Amino acid sequence: MADPAAGPAGDGGSVAAAGPVGPVGAAGDAGLADQVRLLFDAKAATWPAKYAPEGSLTGRLAQFAEGLADQVAAGGRVLDLGCGTGNLARAADAAGLRVTACDISPEMLRRATAGDRGGAVDWVSLEPRWARLPFESAAFDAVVAASVLEYVERPIVVLRECARVLRPAGIMLCTVPDPTHPVRWLEWLADAAARAPSVAAAGRRWPRLDSYLTYLQISRQRRRGGWWCAVAAQAGLLTVPNRVATAGYSPLRMFTFQRPGVPERSS
Ligand SMILES: C[S@@+](CC[C@H](N)C(=O)[O-])C[C@H]1O[C@@H](n2cnc3c(N)ncnc32)[C@H](O)[C@@H]1O
Repeated sequence: MADPAAGPAGDGGSVAAAGPVGPVGAAGDAGLADQVRLLFDAKAATWPAKYAPEGSLTGRLAQFAEGLADQVAAGGRVLDLGCGTGNLARAADAAGLRVTACDISPEMLRRATAGDRGGAVDWVSLEPRWARLPFESAAFDAVVAASVLEYVERPIVVLRECARVLRPAGIMLCTVPDPTHPVRWLEWLADAAARAPSVAAAGRRWPRLDSYLTYLQISRQRRRGGWWCAVAAQAGLLTVPNRVATAGYSPLRMFTFQRPGVPERSS
């Protein structure tokens, strides 16, 4: 089996090579990290609408809230990695959890902060090429990463950091694209078509098409479930059964990872 930590573009996946503050961070080369930041800066204005009652992400709130409620005690500490406009973070805060939320997109974070009227969530801006999270080891009971891991070039680096900041037996809930879903096949075809010069030229004329083609290029981790579980294992995380019901046949796949160990008893 190929090294599951190796990235798609000949990246050896060596955490040691990346180093804590090396020139190549979790998101890989500077070009990709900056593209991701620019794409989500541009999407920030319209992102909250996805969480409106009929919005495409409304179900995500219930899914993650259920997962956290089931596995994290009231008052537990949660990190929302790649929090976007903060919808999951605010829902977790409202459910009585202590929430830290971080993102590489300043525009997403600006809107997240503006929406946090109570000021209870700790919002943290990340350098796009981060390779080490600015949090202490074993600081969190849970990490959530909803539709984030597909945008990083080196998931092993990100997952190792998630394992580091989780306390023993802490859990990570994440969603990634399911490459076996027909929606993803269509995206694969669209991405292939986008390589034709005429389609690329059309994209430059129509901003919405351009944004879609950029998304297809940078949402690059289209991996099967076994690959994610193998990388999580290399990062020091076990794959455990999801305790949350997933709605129907979804183009997103949810994973629950867990840091091994026994939780410390509170004195
Ligand atoms: C598809 S959006 C999801 C936002 C939010 N999790 C949600 O479910 O509404 C992906 C988010 O991940 C952020 N992101 C991408 N790469 C990241 C990284 N390496 N570290 C932290 N955030 C990242 C983007 O800026 C963006 O806000």
